[in-house]
Amino acid sequence: MSDKKAQLTIDGKADPIDLPVYSGSSGPDVVDVRSLVSQGVFTYDPGFVSTASCDSEITFIDGGAGVLLHRGYPIEQLAEKSDFLETCYLLLHGELPSPEVNDEFVNTIRYHTMVDEAIHQFFRGFPRTAHPMAMLCGVVGALSAFYHDDLDIDNPDHRLRAAYRVIAKMPTLAAMCYKHGVGQPFMYPQNEMGLAENFLHMMFGTPCEPPKVSPVLAKAMDTLFLLHADHEQNASTSTVRLAGSTGTNPYACIASGIAALWGPAHGGANEAVLEMLHEIGDESRIEEFIKRAKDKDDPFRLMGFGHRVYKNYDPRATVIRGICDEVLEELGAENDPLLRIAKKLEKIALEDEYFIERKLFPNVDFYSGIILKAIGIPTSMFTVIFATGRTPGWIAHWHEMLSDSYRIGRPRQLYKGYTKRDYPG
Ligand code: ACO
Repeated sequence: MSDKKAQLTIDGKADPIDLPVYSGSSGPDVVDVRSLVSQGVFTYDPGFVSTASCDSEITFIDGGAGVLLHRGYPIEQLAEKSDFLETCYLLLHGELPSPEVNDEFVNTIRYHTMVDEAIHQFFRGFPRTAHPMAMLCGVVGALSAFYHDDLDIDNPDHRLRAAYRVIAKMPTLAAMCYKHGVGQPFMYPQNEMGLAENFLHMMFGTPCEPPKVSPVLAKAMDTLFLLHADHEQNASTSTVRLAGSTGTNPYACIASGIAALWGPAHGGANEAVLEMLHEIGDESRIEEFIKRAKDKDDPFRLMGFGHRVYKNYDPRATVIRGICDEVLEELGAENDPLLRIAKKLEKIALEDEYFIERKLFPNVDFYSGIILKAIGIPTSMFTVIFATGRTPGWIAHWHEMLSDSYRIGRPRQLYKGYTKRDYPG
């Protein structure tokens, strides 16, 4: 256990309470406050700003240094040398696969990409105008109705089968959300294609005209999925863990993660970046918006700048910036006006004392919206793409939690309502 301890004295009482302190392999120590309940006190931490909710071996972030590691591997190295599916394997299993194991894994995912035909009917029940995230939440939750054979959550084989199914089917379901909205026939996945290529095929192909998916765009899409694959105990992942702690099935857990991701404070920021760039409209107006961002009396913030955890360059933003250049060059859109505004805005902000002092750097969302827009993906689909990329992280955390001892998540509260009173009359 631990030799280190903290002592807590409450209201000057004579005997302090001893609390064990644990050290992880990296990151801050944690004070174990579990025994406090037996002393009649709770800790208070709305937003879980100082609270570690679990042990985990999957992802480590050092926001001050701008470091993101999956199972110890830096995100920049994974983006350069790995691909999305290999990273999925790494997140789930803890080690990179051998080439043979990787082939087998890729093949397994490939043969789970199709969804039950009844799900096509399910989609038809949604209005055309439904938000793609509303549909995604519903259909992913509904997968539990179709796959009874892997719902024993205490069986590790069942857990892995569910994990493989959900990773494989997510791009298919994501593309179906788009197709339903535009009134085009659903495209079946093609087993000879890689995951990202297949996704673009299902998004932009029609039975009349299968698209020619550019390898540059497929690679960019794959890297975007990879960069979103996990980010330790963020709001949606914590939601998946909390739902999973009740013993509910994996599809219900992932649906709850999708619901949490939907909020603008979490998955919706790249949409906001694009809206801001449109609003700026011209390079000549950048200074005006920088001024507004610095004005305390103006609620405007520079979207895509700043991060709760990163107080340095978000390492994913550096990779994304490079992909953005490649994609726009491939599409002959290097002179895209939004990209020009984005680059100039970034340069000005990075040299501005206000942003330097507050350690406000571009985050992952600053360039991802420009890439997705250039590929032809509508803004309403941006969070769906994020969810598709984040699925391996969600399912890896769920699997990790169930592989260890865990308790149902049940936070406490500081009650400020009425004390007991009698019903009138
Ligand atoms: N533009 C201008 N000023 C900013 C910005 C910004 N984007 N972000 C923070 N600040 C300022 C604040 O006004 C504050 O200034 P002060 O100290 O003078 O009062 C200071 O920087 C600290 O800001 P906080 O809100 O305390 O920082 P916090 O860590 O809580 O917020 C957040 C992080 C929410 C991401 C914030 O930087 C922001 O709103 N950014 C824009 C939205 C965005 O890009 N969100 C995507 C995040 S990435 C993701 O979720 C995947």
